[in-house]
Amino acid sequence: MKALSEIHGAIIVSGDEISERLNILGWSKIIDAIAETFIEEAQGKVVSPAKTIINFADANNDFRVMPSYMQKYPDVCGVKIIGACPDNPKKHGLPLAVGMYILNDKWTQRPLLIFDAAITTAWRTAAASAVSVRELSNPNASTLGIIGCGVQAHYHIAAIQAVRNITKVMVFDLDKAKMDNEIERGGSCVTKASKQDILEQADIVVTLTPTTAAHIFAKDVPQREMMLCAVGGDSEKKIEFDSSILTVTDHFCDSLEQVSHTGTVHTALRDGVIVTEDLKSLGSLMISEKQLDGTKPIKLFMSTGVALEDLAIARLLYSGTS
Ligand SMILES: NC(=O)c1ccc[n+]([C@@H]2O[C@H](COP(=O)([O-])OP(=O)(O)OC[C@H]3O[C@@H](n4cnc5c(N)ncnc54)[C@H](O)[C@@H]3O)[C@@H](O)[C@H]2O)c1
Repeated sequence: MKALSEIHGAIIVSGDEISERLNILGWSKIIDAIAETFIEEAQGKVVSPAKTIINFADANNDFRVMPSYMQKYPDVCGVKIIGACPDNPKKHGLPLAVGMYILNDKWTQRPLLIFDAAITTAWRTAAASAVSVRELSNPNASTLGIIGCGVQAHYHIAAIQAVRNITKVMVFDLDKAKMDNEIERGGSCVTKASKQDILEQADIVVTLTPTTAAHIFAKDVPQREMMLCAVGGDSEKKIEFDSSILTVTDHFCDSLEQVSHTGTVHTALRDGVIVTEDLKSLGSLMISEKQLDGTKPIKLFMSTGVALEDLAIARLLYSGTS
């Protein structure tokens, strides 16, 4: 790893090195580290303000700043600075998520580690989804549906395979080339499907679309035991599920504050579909402060992406440098 003395001796790590190191760490360790952030957050042992987002309508993107700290690891704190840019893949040949992470020594605020946060964002997001799958899906779930086959899809398949014995993966994307790519990468267990087939047949459905208008409604989702994991609608301008979904699901989120600003929940609160008290964090379920609603067979996890998840990955990466 390359040290640049100009930035107080911080270690600067490239995307390739990050991928190599994350593969060595492996999903199991990363998923457990992310699960720990949910628990610590629910116990109030963290500092993790909701992300600050500046929306740039003229550039069709946003700029996010995400600092955090965990009492359990008192020597470090960190910040992710990242943009979510839906036009990047097609117009600029860049990933949708572009940015960097800076891990600091808490006692001196000296930067310790600086790295490309695109890959780590994919890993930590998929790991957070895997934590939700572990908590909310049937342990015998074997069919996974993926709606939206961009960067996140591949990581989600791998992370969910690490927590459930997935024998069939059904994929759908509006872009046929993206679906074909996923089938090529995923091997014989990955098959093309329609969105409706996925919603009707898969045990676990992950949505990974950067849409600004809802494209899944309560009426599209049959009342049967299944788990939905909504990842794409992670800000106010983005929405995948119409707010009606909240009336037919037992729903959990990663961050109460952040989820209130997402398209689905913001609309639901505004229109009186739910009240704030109806929201439950996954962490509160994990520490038994909240319970599952046994009357609702469909479980929904709403992911917004929490700064603590990035800190957890940064800490694991840094521990591997010394
Ligand atoms: N919750 C989180 O923590 C978190 C973290 C990272 C990314 N995200 C979000 O997840 C989403 C996916 O990220 P990505 O990096 O994979 O994006 P990407 O641009 O690489 O892929 C998105 C894919 O969705 C497809 N798509 C768009 N509309 C669709 C529709 N209506 N039906 C089916 N497919 C459709 C596109 O063709 C594309 O292949 C984005 O909205 C991103 O902002 C959330």
